[in-house]
Parts: sequence; structure tokens; C-alpha cells
Amino acid sequence: MKYKFMHLPRLGVGISYKPQFAKDIRKYIKDIDFLEIIAEQLFESNNTQIKLFQELSKLFTIVPHAVSLSLGSVDGINHQASIKLKEIAKKLNSPWVSDHICFTESAGISIGHLSPLPFSMDSVSTLINNFRSLQDTFHVPIILENIAHLFFIPIQEMSEAEFITKIVNSTNCGLLLDVHNLYANCLNHGTDPIGFLNAFPINSIVQLHVSGGSWLQGYYLDTHAAPVPIEVWRLVELILQEVPVRGIVVERDDDINLELLVDDVKKAKILWSRYCK
Ligand SMILES: [Fe+2]
Repeated sequence: MKYKFMHLPRLGVGISYKPQFAKDIRKYIKDIDFLEIIAEQLFESNNTQIKLFQELSKLFTIVPHAVSLSLGSVDGINHQASIKLKEIAKKLNSPWVSDHICFTESAGISIGHLSPLPFSMDSVSTLINNFRSLQDTFHVPIILENIAHLFFIPIQEMSEAEFITKIVNSTNCGLLLDVHNLYANCLNHGTDPIGFLNAFPINSIVQLHVSGGSWLQGYYLDTHAAPVPIEVWRLVELILQEVPVRGIVVERDDDINLELLVDDVKKAKILWSRYCK
């Protein structure tokens, strides 16, 4: 199947931005191609902070990454968050925005966590309806990310790859494939990452996430607190051989050191320059 997102710009390799990078980020302008910023961090910014982000957006393309739209909620999405996300994307001239395939609130109560959906036809319909109503109001594509989940909710009617394929087939949405989430899920569920990719709609991948994790009590956790493991780089390479993705973001939420993060950016750029000319 043909790649669907040639019309979007090719951003290169970026990082997930943290406020503590503000002082040093300009030093790495040659290494870092773009920034992904947690959208909710932008929602809470005052005018002065927004101006700073607008200044930053003159140096780096900024992609807002939301965690609170709750696209899997049966009682609809978080409208307030969607309005703020749209405003921010316009102010920062972002080429796309993203959120997750999950739910984060129920009956208006925030769960405070990216919670997995049962891979069922009911969840497919909910997500499709929510996504369509949201995308119709946006001026840029909203791309959807696979999450890490330690267990399957018992009502499973299909695999995760089939679940995401059904959503893509009905909405034509773009995907943010978190390769580390995929890797962690496969380790925890005893499944094969290559098998997942073979069943996954890779032609709809707009962006990749990479990060690192650690083992705790027999589970491999997506901690975003370690360098990207070699197995994840191998999967990234396989994907880049097949799909002209528009960007890769290195995520790090804990044990943050911009210099170490840039080490992983440089590794991603070696693959990017090999396959993404
Ligand atoms: Fe991610």
C-alpha cells in the first residue's frame, strides 16, 4: 500500500522538550531538528512563556504531544483540552499534533494515566467516532500513538495491531509508533515485535518515538529513564527501510541529561541519513 503522508514535512530527529533544557537547547541546534512538547505543559503556560515557545518555534519546529484528549472514552473526548491543543498548534505553526490510543478520563474524572482500551469492536467504534469529531475541527493532522500496557483487559476480540489497523482503515489517521512501547509490550506479553510490525499498518506511520526502560519485578517498564536499547534501534532501522516517516523523537522523562539525550539523537540521525534522504 502507498505511503499516505508524503504531503507532511520531513522534520528529521527531535527530542521531547523539558523546561530544564531552556538554557542549553540552543547549543544543540545543529543536532536537534525539532521539538516535541507535552501539550498540557503549553496549556498551563502564561503569555510570557507562550512567547518564549513562539521564539523557540523560530529555531525549531514544535509538535505538541497531548496526553489528555481521552480519545477512547465512551462519553467523548476532553473538549477543553482539544480547544487548547488547537490554539497552541496554530500559535506555534505545528505541522501535526498527537495523542494516544487510550482513555485518560471517565465520566469527566481524570484517571491521571494513559489507560489501555480493550481491543474490542466497541472500543474501535468509540475511538473512530471520537477521532472523527475531533479531526473535523482541526487544521492539521492528529496522529495517534500506541501505548505501553502491562496487561490485557480480559475482553479481547483482536490483537493490538488488528485494533489499530481497523482505526486507520476507517479514519485514515496517521500513527505515532512508539517503538519502545512496542518492544516493552512484546517483552511483557511474550510476543514477537516483527510479527506485530507485519500486522501493523506501517504505511500510516508519521512519526516514531524511541526511549529506554528497565526491569522491575519481572516486568520491563517503559520508564523513559535510560538510553534507547539496541533492540529498539534494530526495529527502527527495519521501519525506516520500509516507510518514509516524517520524524523521530527521542523521549526521556527521568534521569534527564541533554547531552546524553543528544547521544541518542545522533544514533537516530545515522539511521535517518541512511534511509531518509
Ligand atoms: Fe511515546
